Amino acid sequence: MSKAILYPSWQTLQDAILSCTACQLCQGIQNKVPGQGNPNARLMLIGEGPGAQEDQQGLAFVGAAGQLLTRMLEAIGLTREDVFITNIVKCRPPGNRQPKPEEAQRCLPYLRSQWALIKPQVILLLGATALQHTISPDARITSARGHWVQRGAVWMLPTYHPAALLRDPAKKRDAWQDMQMVRDKLAELAS
Ligand code: URA
Repeated sequence: MSKAILYPSWQTLQDAILSCTACQLCQGIQNKVPGQGNPNARLMLIGEGPGAQEDQQGLAFVGAAGQLLTRMLEAIGLTREDVFITNIVKCRPPGNRQPKPEEAQRCLPYLRSQWALIKPQVILLLGATALQHTISPDARITSARGHWVQRGAVWMLPTYHPAALLRDPAKKRDAWQDMQMVRDKLAELAS
């Protein structure tokens, strides 16, 4: 991930995201979607980019995939208020296409800053875009999922994007195993 400037406080970071015009994505949006939840979360979740409902509400993961994500968190005893949920890009790509590499690169300093301020112990990477922009551009979600990657003090676990689980419910079994790994890692790190 890029090593660009880090914003010193939550407010300067939030202001920078909300006023950002660093790429073209901001031109067609209704709202920026910085991410939301607990700024002191032990668990951070990173998706790809806002969809239509997220763009309307300015909140990450509030559509169908987000509702599934809420249930997955609840299954390991967490609420959305316990965690921080954000995306690789903070503006909705038109037609829900994947963010282009240059769009992701422009946006990644915000994610790095969120990460630096929150200092999560565990990061759950939701899908290939989150995986490739944090761990390696060559990584594949099918082989990387369910395997921990340690970066400094942070444990990162790639898993399927909840939208992929909605498209292919057969993947839910693996996703449940990944959620259990997250639950167990949080317990281990707390003890
Ligand atoms: N998909 C994502 O990757 N992020 C959201 O916020 C919503 C759907």
